[in-house]
Formats: sequence, structure tokens, C-alpha cells
Amino acid sequence: MDRTEPGGKGDLAGKVAIITGAGSYAGQGAAEARLLAEHGATVVVTDLPGGAGEKVAAELAVPGRFLPLDVTDEAAWTDLMATVEAEYGRVDILVNNAGLWLHAVMCDTSPREYRRVVEVNQTGVYLGMYAVAPLMRATGGGSIINTCSTAGLKGGGMPFAYAASKWAVRGMTRAAAWELASDGIRVNAICPGVIDTPMIEGGTENRERLAGFIPSGRLGTPEEVADLVLFLAGDGSRYVSGAEIAIDAAFTA
Ligand SMILES: NC(=O)c1ccc[n+]([C@@H]2O[C@H](COP(=O)([O-])OP(=O)(O)OC[C@H]3O[C@@H](n4cnc5c(N)ncnc54)[C@H](O)[C@@H]3O)[C@@H](O)[C@H]2O)c1
Repeated sequence: MDRTEPGGKGDLAGKVAIITGAGSYAGQGAAEARLLAEHGATVVVTDLPGGAGEKVAAELAVPGRFLPLDVTDEAAWTDLMATVEAEYGRVDILVNNAGLWLHAVMCDTSPREYRRVVEVNQTGVYLGMYAVAPLMRATGGGSIINTCSTAGLKGGGMPFAYAASKWAVRGMTRAAAWELASDGIRVNAICPGVIDTPMIEGGTENRERLAGFIPSGRLGTPEEVADLVLFLAGDGSRYVSGAEIAIDAAFTA
């Protein structure tokens, strides 16, 4: 495959990507950072302080950097964008990946817990799109990838606040895709099924139990989700916007 062909190594050369929640070393954001960098992108790894963000950034194929970011903090987004603009002059890709899991049905979810999950999973996605859109617009466009979930495709069997926040991600993705299309900015949502990351509570026993619900009989890997993010980040998906793509091995089929 030619280096600059969509999906070929080097197809993201010269592009700058921001990924939130990418400081979880075995998480999806870190896998996405590694793959986008392998394809030539300069990746700004962001997460709450105290994780593996520095290590993830230091190991990337194209030198990137870690910047602390709480996605719920509007001022922190402003600071981040000031740094990105001063240092790189552009942002081509935003992956809103940060997320918070709360394993609770509605009657066991306190209003405080509900608001916190919505603040991170929903408001954080809005603040990210709001922060990057002006620079993307000014530099000719970009690709925004919002991390939803199969919990945003169904309600039954899903934790209440988490499902509510992820359904909202679908709505925001569609509304923003429509709004930003004429600026050359594409906005898509990915809906992972059960992916083997630190977010999955419990050990092997729980993973085996969860695998039993999946038609293919196994959990997905962060690298498999990263492959979908790579597709949506690059020119191979140039006519894809406003989509919500399940990556769940038929879990919701
Ligand atoms: N693992 C799964 O089965 C699964 C399935 C569907 C969707 N998802 C979604 O995928 C995304 C990535 O999750 P993961 O599986 O890699 O889990 P993970 O726990 O490894 O990573 C989540 C990251 O989000 C970060 N984060 C939490 N609150 C934050 C905040 N306020 N500001 C910035 N960062 C914050 C955490 O520090 C962590 O690094 C999340 O949005 C999650 O909801 C996960």
C-alpha cells in the first residue's frame, strides 16, 4: 500500500491529534494514540494527572506530548487549545475518549453520581468539540471521533447514568456533524461493546462471564477499537459523518 494511501502508513503525516483519557496505559485512548502516531500523526495525549500519560506520549512513533486535562474543566480546554495552537498551529483530529463507568441501576444512582457521569461522559464531549472547532474551521477542517458505547444503543441491561450519558453522545454527534459539515469537519461516534481495558471491573472470572454474552465469544481489544478510530481519522472515511458505528462483534445485532 502506498504510504499516503488512506489506511497506509504515513497517511496521517503532518496531522495533529488530541486524544482525551489517553493516559490509561492499557486503555483505548493509549492504543489509539499509538496507532495514529504509527500512521504519522503528532498526538497530544491528555488525561487527568497521575496516570501513564507521560509514558504513553514518550513511546509514540512520532514524538508527541502529554498535557494534563480534566475534560469537565472548560478553562483547561482553553489552556490546552492555546498550547496546541502556539506549538502546532493546527488540530486535525479530536478523539473524545475519556469516560467514567458507574455500574448502577437508576434506583441505586444518587443525583450526585448521575451528575458526575454526565459531566465527564456528556459535557466533556461537548466541551471538547466546542474547544477544537474554531481552530479546525480556521485550518480547513478535521475529524472528531466521539466515544459512545453499546450502552448508547440500548437501555436494557445497561447502567443507568452511563447509558444516559452515552445516548447523549449520539445526539451531540449528529447535531454537530450537521452543523460543522460545511466547515469540512466530520463528526462520528464509535460504540464499542465490551473491550478489555482497566474499565472492566473484576478479574478473569468477570471477563469470562462477559464473553458469554458476546456472539463471537470474546472481549474486544483496545487495538481493534483503534483500527476503527484510524479509519475515521483518515481520508478513507472522507464521506462518513454523523455516523454511529458499533464495534461489538454483533453484541447489539
Ligand atoms: N471498556 C469498555 O468495555 C468500553 C465499552 C464501551 C465504551 N467505552 C468507552 O471507551 C472510553 C475509554 O475507556 P477505556 O475502556 O479505555 O477505559 P479506561 O478506564 O482505561 O480509560 C478511561 C480514561 O478516562 C479518563 N478520565 C476519566 N475521567 C476523566 C476526566 N474528567 N478528564 C479526563 N480524563 C478522564 C481516565 O483517567 C482514564 O484514563 C470511555 O469513554 C468508555 O466509556 C469502554
